[in-house]
Parts: sequence; C-alpha cells; structure tokens
Amino acid sequence: MGFIQNTQVVLASRPVTDIDPKTTFRKQTVSLSDELGPNEVLVKVLFVSLDPAMRGWMRDVRSYIRPVRIDEVMRSSDVAQVIKSNSPDYKFGDIVRVTCGWQEYAILTPSEDMVKIKTFPGVSPSTYLGVLGPTGLTAYFGITDIGEIAKKGGPNCTVVVSGAAGATGSVAAQIAKHVYGCRVIGIAGSDDKCDYLTKELGLDVALNYKSKTFFKELCVATPKLIDIFYDNTGGDILDGCLRRIAFKGRIVVCGAISTYNEAVPKGPAYYSALITQRARMEGFIVFDYAKQYGKAIEDMSKWIKEGKLKSRETIVHGIENAPDALVKLFNGDNTGKMLVKVADEETRSML
Ligand SMILES: NC(=O)c1ccc[n+]([C@@H]2O[C@H](COP(=O)([O-])OP(=O)(O)OC[C@H]3O[C@@H](n4cnc5c(N)ncnc54)[C@H](OP(=O)(O)O)[C@@H]3O)[C@@H](O)[C@H]2O)c1
Repeated sequence: MGFIQNTQVVLASRPVTDIDPKTTFRKQTVSLSDELGPNEVLVKVLFVSLDPAMRGWMRDVRSYIRPVRIDEVMRSSDVAQVIKSNSPDYKFGDIVRVTCGWQEYAILTPSEDMVKIKTFPGVSPSTYLGVLGPTGLTAYFGITDIGEIAKKGGPNCTVVVSGAAGATGSVAAQIAKHVYGCRVIGIAGSDDKCDYLTKELGLDVALNYKSKTFFKELCVATPKLIDIFYDNTGGDILDGCLRRIAFKGRIVVCGAISTYNEAVPKGPAYYSALITQRARMEGFIVFDYAKQYGKAIEDMSKWIKEGKLKSRETIVHGIENAPDALVKLFNGDNTGKMLVKVADEETRSML
C-alpha cells in the first residue's frame, strides 16, 4: 500500500457577487491511500471543465443540482485516466468522463456518471469535455429540440446566438449554419471573436455586444426579424433580441451568464414581445437528454469529419489555477471551451 499526494481546491466561502478567487476557494493537499475497496477505481485527472454553471452551484439555493458544500472539493466534469482498478469493468489506462471535481486524483465506485470514452489518435481526450462533451451536447439538444430548428431551418430562417464564440454557442451556431442552412448571426464580446465567428466558423454576421451601437447593428442584421434566438447570456442582449423576435419565434434559454454574478438579477424588460408575437421562450438542462447522448455524439462526430463543426479550446495549466481560470471565463478570456489541464496520461502503471 502507498500514499499519493493529492492537491485539491475546495469551496471556502460563497460569493455574493463577483468571485474573488482568493477568498472563494482554498487549495489543500491531502494524502490518498492507493488501497482500493471492492469495485473501486483510482483515477488521475487529466482535464477539468470550467463552466459558468459553477457560479450557480456555489449558491445555497434550490436548483437542478445540490449546492457545493463549504470545504467540499469544487464540483466539475473531468476527463480522467484509470490508474488502478478493482472493478471488472475498468483497467489501467481507460479514459473516463466523470464528475470528480478540482483535484488531481480520486477513488471512485463506477456509476452511471462515469462514462468510458473511446480515444482516437490525434483527438485529445479534452474533446469529450468540449464539442463532444456536455457543452457540445447542450448546444445539440438546445438548438434541435428546444429550438425545433428542423421545423424552421433553411436560408429563410434567421438564427441569433449569444455567447457565440464560447463552447456552447459556437457549436449551436455552426449546427444552425452548416447543418440546417440558416442565416446565422453570432454575438460576442470582442472584435477578434467576431472575426473568428465569420472568418473561421463561417457565420453570416458577427456583432460585438460591447459596441455602443449594438442594438442598431442587430436591427440591420435582422431585416426579417429573429426566428430562433439561442441565448447564453440573458441581460441586455436578451432584451435586444426580444425586441426583434419574429411571429411564432423561439427563444432557447440555455444560459444567462450576464446575470450569474448579480446578487439580485433583473428580469427582461421586453418580455411582453412573447405575447404580441405569440413567441415561446423555454429553458432546459442538458442532463435531461442523457439517454440520447449516444446518437448526438454520433451525429456531431460525423459533422466534425465533414468539416461542419470546428472547435477551439482555451487551456490553463495546473489545478491550483482553476479559481483564476473560472474568473477568466466570466471575463470572456476564452474562445471555445475553457479547460484546466491537470496532468498528462500515464503510459505505464507506477503503482
Ligand atoms: N442549460 C444547460 O444545460 C447548459 C449547459 C452548459 C452551459 N449552459 C450555459 O451556456 C452558457 C455558455 O456556457 P459555456 O460553458 O459554453 O461558456 P462559454 O460561452 O465558453 O464562456 C462564457 C462566455 O460568456 C461570455 N460572457 C461573460 N460575461 C458576459 C456578459 N456579461 N454578457 C455577455 N456575455 C458574457 C464571455 O464571452 P464574450 O467575450 O463573448 O463576452 C465568455 O467567454 C452559460 O450561460 C451556461 O450557463 C447551459
């Protein structure tokens, strides 16, 4: 039996507004025995996913998942490598996607949450946290099921996506553009991101929401109004799109990052457009679609091969840097999926 030094980051206090990485989190190192109980596996974390939803998990309020407790390891989806196993279903070297949080190692009993992933040469396992992971799946189900894009689709259908240069938004926008052939307008927070959206991802128009003339530009870009608005941000962008929503339009409420740090968020001022335009606004949580993930991953893998889906990752190194990286996500420092790389894969067992 041996011991492993395991660096973890725990939730130290609940922020009321913006996250202060120094007071919100605490780093600690604990010794972890590598002796496993029946059916247990020891995993080494390779990549940690950073998600805006983490801000909600820090609040002690009713939600779709229980809050992270004070002094508990911060929750996250991770990609990890099995380095020791007492489970008949797992062996050294298997790569899994699992929720084991901001730490370097974990001892787990395999459950539905632990998913073995097939790795391919040239495809980083981090892909299974991004375009083929929870954020890509969110975009897939949000735009197809909640947005009902197959019913509208085509060049006469105008789709607007906020947070369009981010992990979820970039996938939703590309599915709308390159799979369903819609006219797609992406909204992002810098001119560089707007260039990425039009020049690299092939969207029709990209608008910087920080421009003083943003709403005017949105009106010019949507002469036939908005059939589907895929919203990741809420706030003023949502209000602008409510003012441009088409008759029977759909608003896919994927996220509302502009409000997550507000102690008391304010609601949309123009929601009565839903009445006058007989439009529909609907939220969803990706976990509701868990039984359909297989088909979605198959579709998206095909679209990647066909060149219809491109992705980028913004990678920060070292688990101790996760708190600062989470703040960077809220500052818009990322293009595509924001990740922490924790370690390289082991090629042979050291235990
Ligand atoms: N419903 C679900 O099941 C589900 C699942 C996953 C994610 N989500 C939601 O989807 C959204 C995107 O998540 P993600 O993981 O893909 O993150 P992401 O878009 O990759 O990163 C967050 C981005 O939000 C933008 N942002 C930050 N503050 C903003 C503000 N005040 N106004 C407008 N934009 C702001 C930043 O880009 P800019 O530089 O463009 O500002 C930043 O890069 C989040 O709201 C998240 O909660 C929902």
